[in-house]
Amino acid sequence: MAIILWCLIAYILGSIPFGLFIAKTLCGIDPREDGSRNTGATNVARLCGAKYGIATLVLDLAKGFVPVLMASYWLESNFALSLVLLAAIFGHAYSLFMRFKGGKAVATTVGAFLAASPWGGIISAALCLGVVALSGHVSMGSLTFALALPVLMILTGNFGLFPAAVVVMLLLFWRHRENIRRLARGEENPWLKPKA
Ligand code: G3P
Repeated sequence: MAIILWCLIAYILGSIPFGLFIAKTLCGIDPREDGSRNTGATNVARLCGAKYGIATLVLDLAKGFVPVLMASYWLESNFALSLVLLAAIFGHAYSLFMRFKGGKAVATTVGAFLAASPWGGIISAALCLGVVALSGHVSMGSLTFALALPVLMILTGNFGLFPAAVVVMLLLFWRHRENIRRLARGEENPWLKPKA
């Protein structure tokens, strides 16, 4: 029973579209209609400015981090924790409050893995930031993060979280399919600058 309850809590929390709420109410822009049309921190920063993007980033991280951390005190198996982690991440990507549409789930994934596997989360997030700084593309950092997650679950000895990390990697690649096409064409939106 506890596992179902925690999955529900995580899914509902993950579903809260903070980026959409922040962009629409605080800067009057619907991020689904401009820029990359994503509701995540990158597009909110691109359309509204860095401080709105940072607020979205922190809240999207928190909605992955909080339910997974809380559930980890109740649930003993890695399998159960993996389901809670996936519920938060899929909540962001297929939101209850956005007719099962949603974002690319990177920040929520970082938050969830920081709670479930702190070293894995820290190292993969650091790799992501490094690639963003070098390439200038958040999507490139996000894809590196997605690839690094399963590898880091093995390297840090979190074998129980490996299957969830593989599922998340596939989800993140799927949600970034337009970014991958733009990267291949050399047309990806630059960080913090709207596409002309
Ligand atoms: O986390 C989302 C990021 O990887 C890409 O965002 O808006 O450039 O598609 P965006």
